[in-house]
Amino acid sequence: MGVLFVETKIVSVDNHIDNLASYQQAVDILEKGGVVAFPTETVYGLGALATDERAVQQIFAAKGRPSDNPLIVHIGTKEEVENYAIDIPETAQLLMDECWPGPLTLVFHKRPGVIAENVTPGFQTVGIRMPDHPVALALLKQLGAPLAAPSANRSGKPSPTEAGHVYTDLQGRIPMIVDGGRTGVGVESTVLDMTTAPPTILRPGGLTREKIESIIGPVNAESNTPGGEAPRAPGMKYAHYAPESPLFVIELNKELIRNAVASLHTEGKKVAVICPDEFAHGEADWYFSFGTLHDKDAMAANLYHAIRKCDETDADVILATETDVHGVGAAVMNRLNKAADGKRFK
Ligand code: TXA
Ligand code: MG
Repeated sequence: MGVLFVETKIVSVDNHIDNLASYQQAVDILEKGGVVAFPTETVYGLGALATDERAVQQIFAAKGRPSDNPLIVHIGTKEEVENYAIDIPETAQLLMDECWPGPLTLVFHKRPGVIAENVTPGFQTVGIRMPDHPVALALLKQLGAPLAAPSANRSGKPSPTEAGHVYTDLQGRIPMIVDGGRTGVGVESTVLDMTTAPPTILRPGGLTREKIESIIGPVNAESNTPGGEAPRAPGMKYAHYAPESPLFVIELNKELIRNAVASLHTEGKKVAVICPDEFAHGEADWYFSFGTLHDKDAMAANLYHAIRKCDETDADVILATETDVHGVGAAVMNRLNKAADGKRFK
C-alpha cells in the first residue's frame, strides 16, 4: 500500500508554555485514526490507536514494516493491563510494581476482541508496556486510550533517539512528530514473554536481565537456553539497525584499531570509528562517541545516534568497539551485532 504525501509537522513540548494545546493536536490526529511520533524513555515510537485496525495499518505503511511483526501496546496506567491481557501471573505483578513505568515489555495471553487484530497478527499474545517518559505519559493520559507503537524509524533503520531522526526517516509520510528532546535509555525495551515458565527474554533491552532476575528469579534467555537459542521476538529475524556502509565490530584495543584503520587506508577506504572518548584520537577519518570508557549506559544512549552520524559521512567502512554482555551490554551488543550483520574486524 502506498503512502500519500503529508506535510510533517514537528511540535516541541520542551519547556513550552502551550503544552496542553500541543498534546491536543496530537490527540486530535490519533482520535481520527492517524499516526503520531512521540518520545519514550527508550526510543521514539510511532503511535496509533491500538483498538483501531485502520489506524494501525497506517503504522505498517509509513514504516514499510512487514505486517507479520507484532506491535507493542503502550498504556498510561498499570491498571489498564487487565483490559488487554488475561492470565497475568503473580511474577508479572511483581515486575509491573517494580519496573513500570520503564523499559520492560511484558508478553501475555491477549484478551480476545479488544486490541485490533493487526497489532498482533496471528498471535494469541500481546506485548504491553508503560513507558517512563513525561511526554509519552501525558499523551496517553490526554488520549485516554492505548497506543500501538513500534520504533518510529523506516523498517531496517536504527531506531530514532531524537525527533530529527524520525523526520529523516518519515518526513512526508506522517502528519506529526512530538519533539521531547533526546531519549535517555537509547535502546528499546526488554521484551519478556510471561507465557512461558520460567519467563523468556525475547529481546534484550533497556531493563537488564540482572534486574529482572533479582525480582522474579532465573529467566530464559539466548545465552542460557540449553541446546540453542530461545525463541525470539518475531521482529528479531529481520535485518535491523543497518548503516549504509558496512559496519564491523572490533575489540576495544587501541593498537588493533590503529592497525585496522591503517590497513583500510592502504586500500583507499575512508573509515569512521565509533568508540569511547578515550579512544577517539588517531588516523581515522571520523570518530563518533560511545561516551566515556566502560560506561555502558552511555553506549546505549549514543549507539543509534552514532550509527546515523556515520550515514552522514562518506565513510566506506565503519568500525565500532565492543563491550561485554553484562547489564545493558547485552542489549548494546545485540543491536551492534545486528547492525554489523555478524561481521567482526580481524
Ligand atoms: O522501547 C520499545 O520497545 C520501543 C518504544 C517505542 O516503546 N518500541 C519498539 O517496538 O521497539 P518495535 O515494534 O520496534 O519492536 C517490538 C518488538 C519486535 O521485535 C516484536 O517482534 C516484539 O517486540 N513483539 C511485540 N509483540 C510481541 C508478542 N506478542 N510476542 C512476541 N514478540 C512481540
Ligand atoms: Mg523497531
